[in-house]
Amino acid sequence: MKSYFFVKFFSIFLLPLGFFLTGCSEDQSAAQEGKLPQIVMGTSADMPPFEFYEASEIVGYDIDIARAVAKELGLTLQVRDMDFSALIPSLQSGRVAFVMASMTPTPDREKVIDFSEPYLVLPLAAVTLEHKTVKSEKGLAGKKVGVQLGSTHEQFAREVATRDKTVKVHSLNKLAELIQELISGRIDVVIMETKPAKAFQEVNPQLKVSALADHTVSFAIAFPKGSPWREKFNKSIKKLNVSGTLDEIKAKWFSDYKDKLRG
Ligand code: ARG
Repeated sequence: MKSYFFVKFFSIFLLPLGFFLTGCSEDQSAAQEGKLPQIVMGTSADMPPFEFYEASEIVGYDIDIARAVAKELGLTLQVRDMDFSALIPSLQSGRVAFVMASMTPTPDREKVIDFSEPYLVLPLAAVTLEHKTVKSEKGLAGKKVGVQLGSTHEQFAREVATRDKTVKVHSLNKLAELIQELISGRIDVVIMETKPAKAFQEVNPQLKVSALADHTVSFAIAFPKGSPWREKFNKSIKKLNVSGTLDEIKAKWFSDYKDKLRG
């Protein structure tokens, strides 16, 4: 009777709990096949060189770090692509166990999700067409400013727009859509970090990238509030730093970093 109760209890409560914790049923089949357990990561694969599509594969700096951490922790990585604005809700609902999407920790975000130690710091850039230049917040006056929906850049642009009514904010889901709007002249400037800006410029030489004075942001890995993965990831990143794996990943994706290593 007792063991029957336990079996019932196990199958009714604990198994579904297992599904819930791992976030998807594939994890179960992987475990059954004796493979490594899976961990599901959310990203917004529209930001080269951090997370983007090469043919049908999602690749980049963040993806390589995530793979290295997963390997170090004995897990296989499953990557789910979505709009940037869907990432935090996906963490909150447990659809993904963590997010790597060049996400910047902010006090508002920290109220609803947790962040790892930052893994990178970058300046912000203003991307314009060649004949225009924006070098500071003041330079946004009278401009239509393109930003990614749900990003810290959107928040920044909206703050500027409340101070200066001549600034108009134009939010879209994907960075490539913003670049298209810029090229076709429907907006004047796009705000993003310097590295993706330069990556877009490489394929669109008519673009100009200017660093925005006094604006730098950091990137960190995001987790659902209270997730036990946070500390495990922090430790793993430290190990990868000491072993030189992080430098290798940097050298692979950041050509200027490669030049520094050489020089
Ligand atoms: N760092 C900015 C933020 O956290 C933008 C990140 C955009 N990431 C992306 N994969 N498109 O809001």
